[in-house]
Amino acid sequence: MNTTVPTSVYAQRRARMAAQLGANGIALIPTAPERPRNRDSDFLYRHDSYFYYLTGFTEPNAWLVVTGDGTSTLFCQPKDLEREIWDGYRLGPEAAVGALNVDAALPVNELDEKLPQLLENRDTVWFPFAIHQGLEGRVAGWLNRVRARVRYGALCPEQQSDLCAILDEMRLVKDAHEQDIMRRAAAISARAHVRTMQACARMLRAGQDVREYHLDAELMHEFRMGGSQYPAYSSIVAAGANACVLHYRADVAPVRAGELVLIDAGCELDGYASDITRTFPADGKFTGPQRTLYDIVLASQEAAAAATKPGARFTDPHEAAVKVLTQGMLDVGLLDRNKVGTLEDAIEKRAYFPFYMHRTGHWLGMDVHDCGSYVEPGEVGTVSERKDPLSGEIIKNRPSRVLQPGMVLTIEPGIYVRPGEGVPEQFHHIGIRIEDDAIVTPQGCELITRGVPVKADEIEALMRG
Ligand code: GLY
Ligand code: MN
Ligand code: MN
Repeated sequence: MNTTVPTSVYAQRRARMAAQLGANGIALIPTAPERPRNRDSDFLYRHDSYFYYLTGFTEPNAWLVVTGDGTSTLFCQPKDLEREIWDGYRLGPEAAVGALNVDAALPVNELDEKLPQLLENRDTVWFPFAIHQGLEGRVAGWLNRVRARVRYGALCPEQQSDLCAILDEMRLVKDAHEQDIMRRAAAISARAHVRTMQACARMLRAGQDVREYHLDAELMHEFRMGGSQYPAYSSIVAAGANACVLHYRADVAPVRAGELVLIDAGCELDGYASDITRTFPADGKFTGPQRTLYDIVLASQEAAAAATKPGARFTDPHEAAVKVLTQGMLDVGLLDRNKVGTLEDAIEKRAYFPFYMHRTGHWLGMDVHDCGSYVEPGEVGTVSERKDPLSGEIIKNRPSRVLQPGMVLTIEPGIYVRPGEGVPEQFHHIGIRIEDDAIVTPQGCELITRGVPVKADEIEALMRG
């Protein structure tokens, strides 16, 4: 359980949600299931983010039920000495009321008996759609039990609504407690990147056989030493040409002097993710072509950060980054002006796409690709159509989300050069991404991951140390 956030904060979040359910609504929020890995071993348990947002409770086999009048009932594992000897401490329903600030708590084995009673005479049942396998079927089973009682005058809910619609909007703007945890997660991850860059250069100087997994181990060391529970996602440690594989993992490839290493890794702390990418020369010194492309990516990231401010659209940082990247590609000959035309033509045709094929950011929060609509809610009805210049597909555009203080997003432009016709050889197999996490502030944005340097000279100085 996260002890840094007072239980009143979770109670306030439940009250805000309850106020949107309608007086006769009811919300059901299960936590995540335990997942078997093989035979008797489970994957490391991770709670469900919606459930945790509303409770701060990290045990498996738990459900939260909230009614429109604001009453919260927790279903959790009952105390059981034998199970606790094997699996560890359980809070239990009796202690849960005080510890979690809920109105009532019941053993989870009573869920099937109690849910039809709780659903009776409600008009709308809310639950997260398409998140928990089998949940829709369980709700249908409970509703059937209510229906069996209608001839005695009971009312059965007639509407089912997606609770994500309410919770995603709440989670999109991070409160002060969330921002505090995210800053601390970011600081741990930044230290991990610093440690790993330095270890890489040191091991190479000592003549050791350095592999991607050695660098992964350095990251993990710092994450856990900082108190993080686990990585927020599978760390990418990509040596040399592997950096051009966007979803590469830390594998066994040798890390060689003269090549770049791309590391995309961030820890999860108390339920919140961080997400940092740095690209550095394995031996601490950029070659000329590496430095040329690195400085273009960094300039594009700076342009994107400057465009990350309240009132701007979510797509503005991407557009700012694309402009700088495409200009850079024209300047260094990755794009041929004779073929693609002016900067505006190249952007219009998406000529940069072979070298920059992803977006510049995503929401960040409890989940690394966090929830929250990318369309401005008041403008969903404003639809325009455009034809994608590469695929020919007709795409429906809606106005992008307007940034507000408290929203958190990543800024992560890159350039990835695979050999191809007309692609200058000096850039072949170079993959560079620079990623920082930004909290939107009233003035602009705060880059919370800059505990790890980003300028090429500063990275070189750090790696000499
Ligand atoms: N690490 C996942 C991402 O950058 O989106
Ligand atoms: Mn990211
Ligand atoms: Mn990342």
